[in-house]
Amino acid sequence: MKALVLAGGKGTRLRPLTHTSAKQLVPIANKPVLYYGLDAIRDAGITSVGIIVGDTAREIREAVGDGSRFGLEVTYILQEEPLGLAHCVLIARQFLADEPFVMYLGDNFLVDGITDLVDAFREADYDAQILLTKVAEPQFYGVAELGPDGEIVGLEEKPEHPRSDLAIVGVYTFSPAIHEAVRSIRPSARGELEITDAITWLIDNGRRVHSHFVGGYWKDTGRLQDMLECNRIVLEGIERSVRGSVDGFSEITGRVVVEPGAVVENSVIRGPAVIGADTKINGSYVGPYTSIGEGCLLENAEVEYSIILGDSAITGVSGLTYSLIGRNVEVTRAVGVPNMNQLMVGDHSKIQVRA
Ligand code: DAU
Repeated sequence: MKALVLAGGKGTRLRPLTHTSAKQLVPIANKPVLYYGLDAIRDAGITSVGIIVGDTAREIREAVGDGSRFGLEVTYILQEEPLGLAHCVLIARQFLADEPFVMYLGDNFLVDGITDLVDAFREADYDAQILLTKVAEPQFYGVAELGPDGEIVGLEEKPEHPRSDLAIVGVYTFSPAIHEAVRSIRPSARGELEITDAITWLIDNGRRVHSHFVGGYWKDTGRLQDMLECNRIVLEGIERSVRGSVDGFSEITGRVVVEPGAVVENSVIRGPAVIGADTKINGSYVGPYTSIGEGCLLENAEVEYSIILGDSAITGVSGLTYSLIGRNVEVTRAVGVPNMNQLMVGDHSKIQVRA
């Protein structure tokens, strides 16, 4: 069995972060979300992985390399334009050959991995297996409608009026029958070859399509609140490990990871939290559910429930919460203008200041 990982596309919902970097590489507890997927694929006993890349191909290649670090053999497949999930299967035809495969959307995150799903597929003789889970806002997902015996009655991509609250999770398993399906469908109204249409084609042509409920926690990390929520869940499971230096005036409580080279002085850190390598924290408070990347500086700052990417500096600023801060960002106190905020903010940013 092979795996096809989708890491192309455009990350419009996580702009401005994804203007410059791949959404699949945004870190959860300081580890790119894509790495969790690759680990899950390896743990399911799959080694041959094709990764679909687009505009951010260089960045993904640099991050994943030949896959040996994950125990995988990676082949990159360039998609010139994000023409849809079924288009990815179409262009991966040669790589996939006639083997069954799992298709994994690179921005999806499943706490319990995919081993059960892959094992169930290996034992059965389905042509497709999809994963479903109940969500509060089905209109943002592919949605499945099930019949009285659990059979799939219909699949729709981001319907305006969803017929159920069952979202399609971004991990699918297919037999080679999917290749005829992706060749047979036409682009949807939004101009994409939809995988939901290909699966519907399988059902209409008498192929066996099975649905499976996701037991554990699942998120598509495409939106800010989902990223912060995933970060919280992963941090809940970390073990305390302090490998950086912490001075005697600091207090570190609970499950906190301080990476090598990090320096904590005169500060309070309440876990769960991760402090990246070579980050300096001085005179600051870091509250629960915070991940701070490598090479950052926090000075006289207060932050909680946030993700801060590498090489950013927060100085003289308190009350930062529920925030996602990109790379090389500076957040400082405005000098000489009391009670005023001074901003230089990129396109598509979102700032919420104290009223
Ligand atoms: O996360 C679950 C949802 O994922 C499903 O419920 C939907 O049915 C499915 O269409 C998909 O919806 P999204 O809107 O989240 O898809 P997105 O455009 O974010 O693409 C998912 C991944 O696939 C992402 O890592 C980018 C990659 N991709 C996407 C497209 C359209 C490609 O590599 N090439 C593409 O052409």
